[in-house]
Amino acid sequence: MKALSGVKILDFTHVQSGPTCTQLLAWFGADVIKVERPGVGDATRKQLVDVPGADSLYFTMLNHNKRSIEINSKDETGKEVLRRLVQECDVLVENFAPGALDRMGFGWEDLQKINPMIIMASVKGFGPGKYEDCKVYENVAQCAGGSASTTGFLDGPPLVTGAQIGDSGTGLHLALGIVTALFQREKTGRGQKVDAAMQDGVLNLSRVKLRDQQRLAAGPLNEYSQFGEGIPFGEATPRAGNDSGGGQPGRILKCKGWETDPNAYTYFITQAAVWKNVCDVIGKPEWKEAEGYATPPERLNKLNEIFDAVEQWTMTKTKYEVMDICNPLNIPVGPILSMKEIAEDEGLRKTGTIVEVDHPDRGKYLSVGCPIKLSDSPVEVERSPLLGEHTAEILAEVLGYTGEEFDRVVESGAVGDVKLPSAAE
Ligand code: COA
Repeated sequence: MKALSGVKILDFTHVQSGPTCTQLLAWFGADVIKVERPGVGDATRKQLVDVPGADSLYFTMLNHNKRSIEINSKDETGKEVLRRLVQECDVLVENFAPGALDRMGFGWEDLQKINPMIIMASVKGFGPGKYEDCKVYENVAQCAGGSASTTGFLDGPPLVTGAQIGDSGTGLHLALGIVTALFQREKTGRGQKVDAAMQDGVLNLSRVKLRDQQRLAAGPLNEYSQFGEGIPFGEATPRAGNDSGGGQPGRILKCKGWETDPNAYTYFITQAAVWKNVCDVIGKPEWKEAEGYATPPERLNKLNEIFDAVEQWTMTKTKYEVMDICNPLNIPVGPILSMKEIAEDEGLRKTGTIVEVDHPDRGKYLSVGCPIKLSDSPVEVERSPLLGEHTAEILAEVLGYTGEEFDRVVESGAVGDVKLPSAAE
């Protein structure tokens, strides 16, 4: 028994944003039935291929614990199968380009007629308005959601971040919308439409930057390094480099080995409450009480000097030694971990956050497991489905096609090359 046991998801998603959402629901126990175009499937199956002939890591890492059925949604028999699925499922999730689902005949109005209890959940690039018809990918969302303009260094161009806040971030938002709608349906008996726009999701995650935009009206943002450096502020929230987002000054500093290791760095926060500990650790005990250094406001125009001194110390230690020394003193620090280090991290493997999965075509690979841990609904990560692997099983067991009816659907060609026609017997 899992948290979402018994919930059936008609997964009409592709690429990243939708699949991350339905993967989470699958990990929480929902039966996720992924609908894919016959012979083609989700485009990511064949994107960034590393093992010829096998589904790519892009696909396998986003589609665990799902079942795959091939259906041509533009074919009449395909539409019939889809209608049966809509009747059987609790939620339809999709992230097609705007209008694509309506063109298939499965828009919100159509779905309600087929199953009034259905919840329809969609990711689009933009919400209603002048950009609502645009196709959108990750970096476009990061730019339009305010993240790029506030990321990077003050004297450099806007930057996108490697964290997929537009795709995976919006998938997370959508998943929350879906379980909330399921919860409300328990009381009302009605389905509803759940929309998450990528621009909105990114903006939600960039909320503190809109906070700063409004604070600008009250004067310069004194926790930004540029304030201490005497650089004037413009009209919009500026890029803050590696300054920490809150009121405690922080920077990324070099550690031992930085000359050859691109990730020999630490994040170091000179939190006011532990200033004296910082001074002792870096060998500047005189700064503890010195005029111009003792209080946070006095230090604002000396952050470069202070972090230079901290860095002189961190450069004598590895990033792990910095962690070991600072943690007992309550000085907040964090090593810059490479993906290689994360992949090898025993602790992350123990908690199931990094998992090793076996796949019939590609062998063993690493994946990120479920980042949300429910004590009463543990997650077992299962490999992603092969294209159409469960077509026969779903037709027979979920939709009840048997005998001649089953043969008719299979022979129509609308459900791909079904490998086990006898499964319906
Ligand atoms: N059988 C038959 N046709 C199918 C099908 C199936 N099983 N599944 C999809 N199709 C068709 C669609 O009906 C559509 O046809 P149409 O345009 O003739 O109506 C076509 O495939 C392409 O779908 P589309 O969503 O437009 O794909 P795309 O590759 O052109 O665009 C995105 C990809 C991601 C840009 C676009 O889907 C999008 O903007 N999605 C919303 C935002 C989003 O999620 N972006 C991030 C993705 S990580």
